[in-house]
Amino acid sequence: MPHNPCADLDTLDLTRVRAAAPERRPVLHYTAEKSWLNDPNGLIFHHGLYHLYYQNNPFGNVWGNMSWGHATSVDLVHWEEHPVAIPCEEGEAIFSGSAVFDARNTSGLGTEEQPPLVAVYTSAYAAPHPLAGRQAQSLAYSLDGGFTWTKFAGNPVLDRASSDFRDPKVIRCQDPAGDFWLLVAVEAQEKKVVLYRSENLRDWGFLSDFGPANAIGGVWECPDLFPLPDPERPGREKWVLIVNLNPGGVAGGSGGQYFVGDFDGTRFTPDAGSLLSDGPVDADGPVPPGAEDRGLANCLWLDHGRDCYATVSFDSAPGEGRVLLGWMSNWDYAGQTPTDPWRSGMTLARRATLVATPHGLRLAQHPVLPEPRDGRRLQEAAGIPLEPGAPFALAPFPEDAAQRIRLAVRPGAETLTLRLFDDGERAAVVRYSPEEGVLSLDRRRSGDVAFHEKFASVEHARLTLPDGVLRLDIVLDRGSVEIFSRDGLVVLTDLVFRGAGQVEASLEGGAGAVLESLEVDRLS
Ligand code: FRU
Repeated sequence: MPHNPCADLDTLDLTRVRAAAPERRPVLHYTAEKSWLNDPNGLIFHHGLYHLYYQNNPFGNVWGNMSWGHATSVDLVHWEEHPVAIPCEEGEAIFSGSAVFDARNTSGLGTEEQPPLVAVYTSAYAAPHPLAGRQAQSLAYSLDGGFTWTKFAGNPVLDRASSDFRDPKVIRCQDPAGDFWLLVAVEAQEKKVVLYRSENLRDWGFLSDFGPANAIGGVWECPDLFPLPDPERPGREKWVLIVNLNPGGVAGGSGGQYFVGDFDGTRFTPDAGSLLSDGPVDADGPVPPGAEDRGLANCLWLDHGRDCYATVSFDSAPGEGRVLLGWMSNWDYAGQTPTDPWRSGMTLARRATLVATPHGLRLAQHPVLPEPRDGRRLQEAAGIPLEPGAPFALAPFPEDAAQRIRLAVRPGAETLTLRLFDDGERAAVVRYSPEEGVLSLDRRRSGDVAFHEKFASVEHARLTLPDGVLRLDIVLDRGSVEIFSRDGLVVLTDLVFRGAGQVEASLEGGAGAVLESLEVDRLS
């Protein structure tokens, strides 16, 4: 019998030294100390801690031996890694899923005095398991606040005899007739979201399905469904359905789309303004001619970059809106990104709310960042005319921290160019074309791009300026660029493996361009 590494989890040495090329280890973005990760799983705020479980190979930095890794944070910014929470077994990989607090012990997996946290995950069965080839939904429970987990003896609890039924997201639904558990998962190949209902997390009844719809260029994975306040009808809610897909994302490879609509306890119905078939759904209305060629398809995208996938939300997070977290990589090249011994990290957490636009309700996302501290401001400027051919220098990227750049520019008629991580030869280049109404990020010559033929890329997002001012909120970490614009309506996330050593930033505009305000902060 082949050796099963899942049996060796107890012998893992979590204290191994940090990576070679430490300049690539992000400061603000979660990475596992010395192993592979992909999708965030089981996101939940419980007893003052944010729990981040994640798809993890505890034995290496490529995909395999899928288990749930674990980290916690008090602020969504600083994370502490813990031992593997739910390990794989011979014949059973632990794929993506979610976690809930079963406060009333409906599952009977805890007691009234000690109600359990319950994880609902996909068992991906392989030989020699009798269900080899199937994906079905299973439970594990924790009675110590999410640190140690026991697999339920009656697993799986939901089996459709399917090979592609996965990624359950469970939420508690309020209902006048009694609260219930709602499970949202996918039939990945069919591009369908499937909804089930339960009273006790063990017995599930089918409710409805949704899809295929809008982006269907790849398998549907990692769905999420949650209510948010309706900005147009105070006191009422609308529902957001997230569907990640691979490939077929807006920037190529894996990406995330969403729908806004209603959920009546049985069925999700998207708003007309959310659906491709009903006309333009981009936040900015119809896409300009030729824009489809650059990936500006008419769907609602969570992120226009290459590196934001498997985005799902935290259960029970305090504060306004819904807190989202994605995996900051792309299945096109995730296994080859040049880091060691860890590989892949998470995006920054993003707080999402619904906003009204002329084309319908849309998600606005803002990064969750460290609290301001004294002395972190690196640069401020206001009212600076930008001269063509004379780039305005921004504070250089601090080697030991992340950096936030907030700027407001009146671009004039010509293209505006912001060079980031500039070592004199290579840079990640943000451009804004007022003529086309398009924001782009070009990482083709941004540093190490040769490790995979699909990595060198240019990403585009439609971006019109209602008041003629381009506002960008950019977070640079050691290996990434995250851009938030149009008050969070447009988000773009890309990995960038810049060269080692000092890197600069600069802004250049054409005739008439004015830098109205600039704030550069150090984040750590
Ligand atoms: C998405 C995904 C999920 C699956 C997991 C396996 O990235 O393919 O559908 O549960 O990764 O690691």
